[in-house]
Amino acid sequence: MEIKEIKIEDLRPEEFIKQKIKEISSVVGDGLAVNALSGGVDSSAVTMLGHKALGERLKTYFIENGLMREGEPQKIVSLFKELGVPVEIVDAKKEFFNALKGITDPEEKREAITQTFYKDVFGRLVKESGAKYLLQGTNYTDVEETVAGVKRQHNILEQVGIDTQKQYGYKVIEPIIQLRKSAVREIAKALGLPEEIYKRPPFPGPALSARVIGEVTPERVETVRKATKIVEEELSGTGAFQYLAILHQDRVTGVRGGRRDFGLQIEVRCWESKDALVGTPTKLSYDILDKLAARMTQEVPGVVSVTYNITRKPPSTIEAV
Ligand code: XMP
Repeated sequence: MEIKEIKIEDLRPEEFIKQKIKEISSVVGDGLAVNALSGGVDSSAVTMLGHKALGERLKTYFIENGLMREGEPQKIVSLFKELGVPVEIVDAKKEFFNALKGITDPEEKREAITQTFYKDVFGRLVKESGAKYLLQGTNYTDVEETVAGVKRQHNILEQVGIDTQKQYGYKVIEPIIQLRKSAVREIAKALGLPEEIYKRPPFPGPALSARVIGEVTPERVETVRKATKIVEEELSGTGAFQYLAILHQDRVTGVRGGRRDFGLQIEVRCWESKDALVGTPTKLSYDILDKLAARMTQEVPGVVSVTYNITRKPPSTIEAV
């Protein structure tokens, strides 16, 4: 299927919303649908569209995969509760960590997450609820990067030849697949989502596992989670497109309390970009970099080295995995 982009200059948010509500209602009919809300702008916009179209016939879940940022599940659930949208948290931490055990190859990690998400967790939720449809927030850039072979974005299914009905037992509806991120933000705003959602920096589908080089274990995710919190606190005021912390696999020698400490390395990235297809590192002040290094080494157990990535995309990518 050829997907045609709707450029932001051609987008009429109110019309688009009306049209998508109509489409979702007519596809789902009087059946049931489910969707996963991560709190990112894409899944938030789709959640609102779905609820406007289906009301209680859409069941929204927050999949707690153990890979999300600190406090995220509770924060997002209470934010949507205020908007009148009930969201159920599904604890799937064990399933994800079991699937990721021993895997170090980036594409194998993505595959493990895709299978756990769509086959195991959603397969089960769909069966239990009797839903026939999954609504999801795939956007135009996700399709482009996957088709170009840069990275397999975990939500891309049909475009890589997966028949979800056959393999997982449900059909997928993708209302924002023709939009890039900036257009999705317009839609999210027009849907009445708060600014903290429609202006949120992007966050990858595989969550913090996209920022752990090597094996993804609960302990290693906890390290990157703490580092992410610091990066977000220190860099949210920069207005940059995206900022993140990466945990490296190699250890390096450091010194702490006068003794050798063979410790962890955190890499910080901060990007200027419009649509994530190309990017340049933000020219952060030395004071900010210094503060990041000080906080990381004091507040994240085991970290003895902090670096800042100065590479453009391409040849770098935004995430590390
Ligand atoms: P990359 O790392 O490919 O990221 O330059 C481009 C943008 O997509 C976001 N993003 C993902 N990245 N796997 C990724 O590697 C995913 O499944 C995914 N989902 C979203 C990423 O954060 C960046 O903004």
